[in-house]
Amino acid sequence: PTPIWLDCDTGHDDAFAILVAACHPQVELLGISTTYVNASLAKTTYNTRAILKAIGREKVPVYAGAAKPFCREASHAPDIHGESGLDGTTCLPIPDVPVRTDKTAVDAMYDALISTPKGSAWVVPCGASTNAALLFATHPDLVNHIGGVSIMGGAIGDDFTDAPMGTVKGQGERFGNITPYAEFNIYIDPESAKSMLSNNTLAGKTTLIALDLTHRFLATPEIQKRMLHGHEPAPNGSQPSRVRKLFLEITTFFAKTYADVFGITIGPPVHDVLAVVAAFAPTVFIDHDGEKFEVSVVTEGPHGMPSAAGRSQCGRTIATPALPAFEGVRIPRDLDADQVW
Ligand code: BDR
Ligand code: CA
Repeated sequence: PTPIWLDCDTGHDDAFAILVAACHPQVELLGISTTYVNASLAKTTYNTRAILKAIGREKVPVYAGAAKPFCREASHAPDIHGESGLDGTTCLPIPDVPVRTDKTAVDAMYDALISTPKGSAWVVPCGASTNAALLFATHPDLVNHIGGVSIMGGAIGDDFTDAPMGTVKGQGERFGNITPYAEFNIYIDPESAKSMLSNNTLAGKTTLIALDLTHRFLATPEIQKRMLHGHEPAPNGSQPSRVRKLFLEITTFFAKTYADVFGITIGPPVHDVLAVVAAFAPTVFIDHDGEKFEVSVVTEGPHGMPSAAGRSQCGRTIATPALPAFEGVRIPRDLDADQVW
């Protein structure tokens, strides 16, 4: 199995990332560090522990990481994930196992990752990259040791040189999800994203799972039905398990906020789980001719919610084809969604 350290801000799609990282037989989940993005650090840490309890994986060590971005104030996404960061559930258990406090999140990440065979382990940030950026700034030797980094973040849209405007499905002319040009995880702490993506050695080992891809992975009504019952019709009278009900509740809430806020009614994109899958099953994703990119993150410019006018918004992620390829970031263009489900 691929050793993975998951870094997340447990909201609805992060819950799926935890499920796959903790339960897939091809993954060895080393631990989870939490961040502040979808809700406060205290809430996302609670949600992480609760999901681990729900899926019977409370032994996975959980460390609370950064509570705010490098040089900005934290802000959250209650319109998408509710006040708790994981609203809409009735089946979420109260966690028993406390968060670990024997070391800092960054030291826990380092100790676990450096103990894996060289070239095998992946770091998977599914919120802002604050913890990951601190990790590689504190322990630069780790870059050569790990197998890779798989980040959920960014919205490329027509910055793909061959892409028409508005390539994110269902969003018309805009391709970001917080400003017209920025994706939320990168917008929240662009400096940490920049430190990850502009470090050539690290970038050469990095996969970026951008909105352009995650919007091709939707939890449609058909998928939601399968979530509850699996592929087979339930045997007479048998009830779906509590875990199935929980993940359907999570999806139902997420579907509603995506419909309300973005007008996407066919089902919500389950962004974060793809970053986990990219670490251990990279071949389910499709690239154009093995292309790699130089990724620059805009850290100046308006950081509010401006109109589409002007393109220098903070948090915008720009991808240009990179040479040599080993220094470039992989940004898959498509995926075999059925296989991932
Ligand atoms: C990202 O932002 C968060 O709301 C989601 O959990 C995901 O990581 C999508 O832009
Ligand atoms: Ca997330």
